[in-house]
Amino acid sequence: MLKTTTYLTHSYGLADGYKLAAYEQQGGYSGVKKALGMPREAVIEEMKKAHIRGRGGAGFDAGTKWSFMPKQSQKPCYLVINADEGEPGTFKDRSIMEKNPHALVEGCIIGAYGIGAHAAYIYVRDELHLSKARLEGAIAEARAKGYLGSRPFGFDYAMEVYVHTGAGAYICGEETGLLNSLEGRRGEPRLKPPFPAQYGAFGCPTTVNNVETIAIAPTVFQMGGDEFSKLSQLHHFNDGGARIFGVSGHVKKPGLYEACVGLTLRELIYDLGGGVLGDRPILALIPGGSSCPVHRPDEIINHPDPRFAPFNGKTILDLPLGVDTFRMVGSMLGTCCAIVLSDAADPVLALHNLMRFYRHESCGQCTPCREGCGWIERILDKIVAGQGTIEELDRVSEIASDITGNTICAFGDGAAQPALSFVRKYRSHFEDYILNGAKSQTRRLTP
Ligand SMILES: Cc1cc2nc3c(=O)[nH]c(=O)nc-3n(C[C@H](O)[C@H](O)[C@H](O)COP(=O)(O)O)c2cc1C
Repeated sequence: MLKTTTYLTHSYGLADGYKLAAYEQQGGYSGVKKALGMPREAVIEEMKKAHIRGRGGAGFDAGTKWSFMPKQSQKPCYLVINADEGEPGTFKDRSIMEKNPHALVEGCIIGAYGIGAHAAYIYVRDELHLSKARLEGAIAEARAKGYLGSRPFGFDYAMEVYVHTGAGAYICGEETGLLNSLEGRRGEPRLKPPFPAQYGAFGCPTTVNNVETIAIAPTVFQMGGDEFSKLSQLHHFNDGGARIFGVSGHVKKPGLYEACVGLTLRELIYDLGGGVLGDRPILALIPGGSSCPVHRPDEIINHPDPRFAPFNGKTILDLPLGVDTFRMVGSMLGTCCAIVLSDAADPVLALHNLMRFYRHESCGQCTPCREGCGWIERILDKIVAGQGTIEELDRVSEIASDITGNTICAFGDGAAQPALSFVRKYRSHFEDYILNGAKSQTRRLTP
């Protein structure tokens, strides 16, 4: 059932909503006061109760991730905020930084305290100039009030938050590529283990979290972890609370909508997004950023887990958007920012466009990814030009399968997913280009 919320978005659309006064008027900085009054371990337990699944794409439980940090450390510990937001179709973190930056600053203090860090670095994608300016402004306001510095809110726990400008590469959103870039190295992902909690920024224990994951932490401490978790309709999947859902592409009202976890794609597209442009049928759905598999709207849910009983027999449009609900049907929730293509779109050109992106953004460290993305792009160049063969089309899937699981980081899998799923689910469109050559150009409609 659709239930919209405003925990993170209450300030959106207000002229001075990003300033400290507006934030405090809404109860801002009350969560951190509670958290700083609790023992560190209790902060982590509270976060665990909230069942916040990482909002950066992998969906790992935030409180559990915090608990991986050492209880005692000889080295300094760090909280690093992933504000690189480069996933095509994803634009939620930017809105938080621009319109509600104090939520992130407050969340940084809570998170850093929970993991035993005295410094948080916010690694912001280079192009997001307004985000950086608003964050710098919020940090200055918080520092002036003594919320940051040697004794935040009178507690003996020194805390600083720094903004670090990214280097404009999608791979710097991968958490270990980000850490290398933060240290001034090439943004190439690291082999794991060791994981960041053991060996992260500057060789010290580090937690990397997404902007939204951290910005929602103050709400958890205001209302309590259990209460927050129960907002969700997927509480029984340990997927708690509320989150920001995005929708873009061929919808009448593309944008961001905050709601309780468990919203369906149908509700997101039709109730919040205003329906499909031109009231056309949906051709394709990408649930949460381009690295997720694409779906046809008529795919039927059928899973033996008893928790799926209410959804079995329905289409993917009616499956609640959750980390596990989508993973268990072979998909991915990703960043929860859906892309909608109506039947006026051409899936061949859509995949071609995506593979140009992945080839360009591959860091080149791993051969399957570096070479594979380029091969797929070149084959698609030929197919789009009406010069491809069926054998080459099959090779796209072979190459994508060979990339999967054979790279240091998840970029490879993310690049392979669209290639595998677009070719499998829209094969007749690809064959049309191959068999009918230039005549297939008539497919290129616009909505
Ligand atoms: C190629 C690639 C790009 C990524 N880009 C981002 C990003 O821009 N923002 C983000 O939060 N996570 C991104 N991630 C996921 C991060 O590696 C990491 O899982 C996340 O920052 C953890 O935060 P969370 O647990 O709060 O979700 C990316 C992963 C990959 C493989």
